[in-house]
Amino acid sequence: MRIDIITVLPEILENPLNYSILRRAQDKGLAEIYIHNLRDFSEDKHKKVDDYSFGKGAGMVMAIQPIEKAINFLCSQREYDEIIFTTPDGKLFDQKEANLLSLKKNIIILCGHYKGIDQRIRETLITKEISIGDYVLTGGELAAAVIADSIVRLIPGVLSDETSALTDSFQDHLLSPPIYTRPSEYKGMKVPDVLLSGNEKLVDDWNHEQAVERTKKLRPDLYRKYLDED
Ligand code: ADE
Repeated sequence: MRIDIITVLPEILENPLNYSILRRAQDKGLAEIYIHNLRDFSEDKHKKVDDYSFGKGAGMVMAIQPIEKAINFLCSQREYDEIIFTTPDGKLFDQKEANLLSLKKNIIILCGHYKGIDQRIRETLITKEISIGDYVLTGGELAAAVIADSIVRLIPGVLSDETSALTDSFQDHLLSPPIYTRPSEYKGMKVPDVLLSGNEKLVDDWNHEQAVERTKKLRPDLYRKYLDED
């Protein structure tokens, strides 16, 4: 899978996408992530990437020209399955969307900035608008990093134990069960006996029960989805 990220702040994205599992995915050739500086596509003599908005007091907007040029340039090189714009008024990102995106071949993520982009660009060039939560970030870069991270780890072969992505929290609308490591007793607190029993079926049943209980208690909204889909 190939992810092209267009941003006015490439520096913010270099670290989060270049370590640990994401680094390994790229080293193994399972994912390619390219970061493009929007300024490189600006035809303004000062490499400006923002412009005034029409209307009262709305603040600066990302300029149309560099965005159009950057997207047209990438689209002239290959076909893209999605051109995503990160924005707080987009569709809320979730595991289901991450799963869908991880099946794509090529995607572009345009990081939103200032007051956003011209509505006509949203309507003509952008195929998907994503928000990572009901709060406002200073820019779309962290949102792009979150989206890229969550989808790259789902590409087969990226995680060493492939089943581990399938048992993640949210895959079946359930939170993960509690986990324990050694020692079996720590400051007087014991690991539940069933986990030490060696009985796989009992352990699976217990994990499921715990996942259901935790979801019911901590995320009643998810629990309702779990009940609806079962
Ligand atoms: N840009 C600013 N806030 C954002 C959010 N919550 N999600 C995606 N992009 C954003």
